[in-house]
Amino acid sequence: MRLIRAKDYQDASRKVANIISAQVILKPDCVLGLATGSSPLGAYSQLIQWCEKGDVDFSKTKTVNLDEYVGLAADHDQSYAYFMHHNFFAHINIDPNNTNLPNGTEADAAKECSRYDKVIRDLGGVDLQLLGIGANGHIGFNEPADAFSTGTNRVDLTASTIDANSRFFENKDLVPHQAYTMGMMAIMQAERIVMIATGANKAQAVYDAFCGPVTPQVPASILQLHPDFALVADEAALSLVGDKL
Ligand code: GLP
Repeated sequence: MRLIRAKDYQDASRKVANIISAQVILKPDCVLGLATGSSPLGAYSQLIQWCEKGDVDFSKTKTVNLDEYVGLAADHDQSYAYFMHHNFFAHINIDPNNTNLPNGTEADAAKECSRYDKVIRDLGGVDLQLLGIGANGHIGFNEPADAFSTGTNRVDLTASTIDANSRFFENKDLVPHQAYTMGMMAIMQAERIVMIATGANKAQAVYDAFCGPVTPQVPASILQLHPDFALVADEAALSLVGDKL
């Protein structure tokens, strides 16, 4: 793995945006794997600015998002479809038909998971996957478990994830308890992966994921095995890692 040290969130966001724009410039019809959460927001707004200036062109780019809450429709203001539209897609020149997310309103999990796996397969897999990290080491919504997931799956969110994500909802009772998430296999099959981790509340997860053993109890630890993985992290997120990486 490659560690890219950043001063702070803004610096990390710019570094991640540079990696994404380089990917799109080198291969305009690439497949970007995208993430939600607060971590990628700065990179998205930087990319929006560059797109407005004409420096990066998303007209041929395709996207697959990592995850979606079960039960939330695309027009629900806490759905990840809504998040992506409002924070990124609506402000860049991407064709909405080229953007993909799991469908949170599909009640038949087997059907939705195989549909989404086929979407990813038909696109030829992911060229560059962007990731954040949950405070418990989750990626996408792949929570700590006894085994690594393979394909897209419907997961029960852990109490700590429900807690962490409740800050976006009016109250904790409104946070869905399940989500569809891309599986570890599709994530690990991406040609390149970049993770953004910033802030002191990610320090333990970053330490456990990259200074400890590869274990499904810390899902992000599997990234240690990826041949082209870069971690972009600020000083606060690296405070426990020190010079171990
Ligand atoms: C959510 C998302 C993850 C994200 C994580 C961290 O649970 N499913 O993809 O990485 O939260 O979020 P944040 O970036 O807001 O800390």
